[in-house]
Amino acid sequence: MTSLLELKNITFAYGGNAQPALQNFSIKIPTGKRCALLGHNGSGKSTVLLLANGLLKPNEGMVLWKGEQIHFKRKNLKEFRQKTGLLFQNADEMLISPTVFEDICYGLINAGFGGETLQKKVEEIIKRYQLDHLKDRPIHHLSLGEKRRVALAGIMGLEPELLLLDEPTTYLDPSQTKVFLNEMNRIHHSGTTVVMSTHDLNLAYEWANWIFVIEKGQLIFEGTPDELFVNERFVLEKGLSIPLFFQLKHLLKASLDLDQEMIKNASKEEILQFLKGLHEKKGDS
Ligand SMILES: Nc1ncnc2c1ncn2[C@@H]1O[C@H](COP(=O)(O)OP(=O)(O)OP(=O)(O)O)[C@@H](O)[C@H]1O
Ligand SMILES: [Mg+2]
Repeated sequence: MTSLLELKNITFAYGGNAQPALQNFSIKIPTGKRCALLGHNGSGKSTVLLLANGLLKPNEGMVLWKGEQIHFKRKNLKEFRQKTGLLFQNADEMLISPTVFEDICYGLINAGFGGETLQKKVEEIIKRYQLDHLKDRPIHHLSLGEKRRVALAGIMGLEPELLLLDEPTTYLDPSQTKVFLNEMNRIHHSGTTVVMSTHDLNLAYEWANWIFVIEKGQLIFEGTPDELFVNERFVLEKGLSIPLFFQLKHLLKASLDLDQEMIKNASKEEILQFLKGLHEKKGDS
């Protein structure tokens, strides 16, 4: 598996903290995957994402982009940070201009867009992210969910190859979560590798195809969602839980004579459709 981004033997301590947030930490982000980053509060997820975006500089170790080491010089960093868009845990920290329109322009101007190309690009982003009705609104008059949408639109305007998302679904209502995940799927299908930190294990199981688990600044697992959750003892020992959908699939597999592969790859909708079919059959007999 080729890796798009690699953190290699990184040690990082926040100023004033005796204990490093990450100690001799290594991770390879596989190209083209939808990755979930799991771990308890304070385990180091946000720190990993900030290092992966070049916002934090490691005390020791290397950051590699497509196998090449990133040097923390202004020009290199600017290019690198454009290729790796980071949506912060708190979108407030990202939005700095007075209005939505100006904020989107700001990021693009910074990236070197100007004139007609800038105008066209801003219009395209506003349309794609359904921000037309918000474009002249002061940023501080937006809801938390709306702020996150504006921040995501600003990042995606720069067409990053790697999108890093720090707990992006907190504060979103169920319908906005669905809209957001559809957008993530569209972004992923268009060729962007996505890494999302989350505490929502159901979401991680259903959305991701690669999972990382971090504990106290160490990577303690990486693999497919099925490889993680089939190891119930490890999952529970680490204070995580088994996603409901995973449990349902396994109960179905055990109680009905179903093809293992079929059930492993089935989506929630397909399983629901299958159960409805069973229910109807039972009603007929
Ligand atoms: N700005 C900071 N200054 C000092 N210490 C920090 C700072 N940010 C994080 N830390 C410490 O670094 C460690 C890792 O924190 P980090 O924010 O990466 O965890 P996390 O896994 O993202 O947690 P959460 O799930 O709560 O968001 C913690 O011990 C935390 O207290
Ligand atoms: Mg965090």
